[in-house]
Amino acid sequence: MEKTDKKEIVMSGIRPTGILHLGSYFGALKNYVRMQDDYECYFMVADLHSLTTHPDTQLLRSNVLHVISEYLACGLDPDKVALYCQSDVFETSELYFYFNTLAYKGELEKTTTFKDKVRLQPQNINAALLTYPVLQAADILLHRALYVPVGKDQEQHLEMTRNFAVRFNHRYGQVFPEPVAFNFGEELVKVPGLDGTGKMSKSENQNATLYLSDDDGLIRKKIMKAKTDEGPKVPGTPRPDYIENLFQLIKLTGSPGVLEKYEADYNNCTIRYGDLKKQLAEDMIRFIAPIREKATAIRSDENYMKEVMKKGAEKAGESAKKTMKLVREAIGLKYF
Ligand code: TRP
Repeated sequence: MEKTDKKEIVMSGIRPTGILHLGSYFGALKNYVRMQDDYECYFMVADLHSLTTHPDTQLLRSNVLHVISEYLACGLDPDKVALYCQSDVFETSELYFYFNTLAYKGELEKTTTFKDKVRLQPQNINAALLTYPVLQAADILLHRALYVPVGKDQEQHLEMTRNFAVRFNHRYGQVFPEPVAFNFGEELVKVPGLDGTGKMSKSENQNATLYLSDDDGLIRKKIMKAKTDEGPKVPGTPRPDYIENLFQLIKLTGSPGVLEKYEADYNNCTIRYGDLKKQLAEDMIRFIAPIREKATAIRSDENYMKEVMKKGAEKAGESAKKTMKLVREAIGLKYF
C-alpha cells in the first residue's frame, strides 16, 4: 500500500509541558514551516507522553491548545501538514504495545531521560515513564517516517526507535524504515536564556525565557532584568557569556544595523547596556507581538481549533491505518 505522492515523510512531536518560547521557534517551528512544502509532514502534540509525569490535566489541555494555536500562528498550514494531538490517533497505542514486546527492561532503564526522571520524581516511577521511548518510536514509525527534526537531546530516543524498527523487521518482515534526525544542513540555532546560563526552556527558568505569549510589558521587564556589567574598559576584552547571549538575541531578531552598532560600541568601550536592552526589547516585541496576537485570535475561535485538530487527526489516522494493516499482517494477526 504505497502512499500516493512520493514526498519523503517527516514526523516530529512536542511535549505540551509548557508553552512555546523563542527557542522553540528558532530551534524547531521555523524549520517545520520551511519543510511543509517539500515533505509529507506529521507534527504532533504529545499529550500522552505528558501523562507520564501526572500533570494537572486542565493545564495540560490548555497547553495543548496553546501549542496548536502557536504552530498555526507561526505559519504551519493545516492543509499542507497533519497537525494533530497524539491521543486522537488510537493506533499509536497499539503499535506501542507491539514495540513493548521488543524493548528490553535493561535498555529502557539505561536511557538518560529515564534516569533523569527517576531523580526528579522518585515517588512516581511508573511503567509508562520507563517505556517513554517506546511510545516515541510508535509515534514516528506509525507514519513510517524517515526524518525526525529534533534537537540533540533526542538522539538516544531516535537510536532506540531505529533498534525497535530493525528488531521488528527482523522478526516479522520488512515494514519500517530506520528514521534519522533531520537537521537543516546548517548549525542548529541555540537560543540562550536571559540570565547568562543555559537555554530558554518550556518548564524551567521562566524569567530567563521569552514565551511567544508574553505581553509587551513582560518582554520589556525580562530583557531589562538581564544580567550585564559595567562594560569593557579596554578594547579587545572578550565578551562574557551573559553579554554574548544578548548579542545572539540581537542577531536573531534585531533591526538592521543594530548588531553592527552595538558591536562597534563594545569594541571601542562606549557601549551602554541600558540602551542595548531597550533596543533589544523593542525589536523582540516587534517579533513576538504579531505571533502572540495571531495565536490568541486563533485560539479564541473554538470551532476553527476543533476543525484543525479533527482534520489533523484524520490525516494522521489515515497514514496510521495503512501502517497498522501492514504491521498486523506481518505479525499474523489477521483472522478474517
Ligand atoms: N520526546 C520528545 C521531547 O521531549 C517529544 C516527542 C514525543 C517526539 N514523540 C515524538 C519527538 C516523536 C519527535 C518524534 O521533546
